[in-house]
Amino acid sequence: MKSYIALALAAPVLVSAQQSMWGQCGGIGWTGPTNCNPPAACSTLNPYYAQCLSSVGGPTTTARTTTTTARTTTTTTRTTTPVTTPSTTPRTSTTTTTSSAPVGTGLDALIKSKGKKYVGFCADPATLNIAQNVAILRAEAGQVTPENSMKWQSIEPSQNSYSWGNADTLANWAQTNGKIIRGHTFVWHSQLPSWVSNINNKATLTTVIQNHIAQVAGRYKGKIYAWDVANEVFNDDGTRRSSVFSNVFGDWTFLDVAFRAARAADPDAKLCLNDYNLDYSGAKLNNFVQLVKDLIARGVPIDCVGTQSHLVVGNGAIPSFKSTLDALASTGLEVQITELDIRTNASPSSQQITQQGNDYRSVASACIKTAACSGITIWGVSDKDSWVPQTFSGQGYALLWDNNYQKKTTAYNGFVAGINS
Ligand code: G3I
Repeated sequence: MKSYIALALAAPVLVSAQQSMWGQCGGIGWTGPTNCNPPAACSTLNPYYAQCLSSVGGPTTTARTTTTTARTTTTTTRTTTPVTTPSTTPRTSTTTTTSSAPVGTGLDALIKSKGKKYVGFCADPATLNIAQNVAILRAEAGQVTPENSMKWQSIEPSQNSYSWGNADTLANWAQTNGKIIRGHTFVWHSQLPSWVSNINNKATLTTVIQNHIAQVAGRYKGKIYAWDVANEVFNDDGTRRSSVFSNVFGDWTFLDVAFRAARAADPDAKLCLNDYNLDYSGAKLNNFVQLVKDLIARGVPIDCVGTQSHLVVGNGAIPSFKSTLDALASTGLEVQITELDIRTNASPSSQQITQQGNDYRSVASACIKTAACSGITIWGVSDKDSWVPQTFSGQGYALLWDNNYQKKTTAYNGFVAGINS
């Protein structure tokens, strides 16, 4: 009788200490609940992370199978699409190939359970050489974006001389591990080799753009979910950025050339226009939206808009992030958050850490609440490999894992809360 009473008293404690679906239930440094509310079961994904997941056949498996089926399908169908097919042509799936891809987990599985397509991260061989990064990517990502390896400077440093090694490594890793890929990027003023930026003839530049895109998009045809066909074509004041492309063409029609070349090379990849600092309503966002509408109106094949979202903790752009996504969605195209990070002091105060958690929640929530928002790419796995400290002196702490590849619980849980909102 005595032991029965003891058990009865203990029972509520046990129940309240159980973790719900998708919650963390173990891993190095974890001090929270290690049991899951049925039907979830605690699954060890890597030494640093165990998560409450449904058993095989549950929503997690369904999500991955659906995604991979779509990708497999697209490689076998729309190969004869004319180059000039309007961007708004729906992506159709007609085959029923089943998937053998690994079951998705972590943040990616969670966002899929809310009807979105992916949570992804930028990566490259330098990232993949670090075991902790690989463990995190396997557990949390459904998509990877090459941070540098597919940029023009990296992949065609000399005319018609291609360096495929790093890009191939990233693409092969993604395929082997069941991750979709966002291709990044073709027409960009930065990381552009001088043999391109020195061109001053429109006919030559047209051919060079077409050839570059045919080669690169052609090589990865059928493996890319979406390409950043053009990147950062606006100045912050909303005017057209000066670049070899805009200067030689004298107008926006270099975009027509690039998007048409991309559609011709990989008819199934979604084609995006990507930019940063769209987070501040004003001329840049307005002109970006208008340009996209103009491209659509003249039949340029564009499917998606990317907002990089390099944000600052506590910045006023974050509370209005939902309205930014709404403005982008007014194009009628898919909206992707393509390079999310939220930086602050490299050694943040506790207040900044708390605010960062709130900010990650706001961004994720805005995507969840915007039907056109399909997914979120975070620009790096850990703070150790982030571009931020090299660019903004004294700043950092922008990502979800710290300099020691440890999960930043406040930021991560904020992001999870946003997805669950
Ligand atoms: O690969 C060379 C290496 O051989 C050399 O020894 C070393 C010396 O500095 O440089 C290495 O190249 C660096 C490259 O990253 C690869 O690590 C470049 O210097 C460095 O400038 C480059 O930075 C990248 C930056 O784009 C270039 O603009 C960052 O990693 C990358 O995160 C960043 O990503 C951009 C997006 O593509 C577009 N949106 C903004 C975003 C952040 O700047």
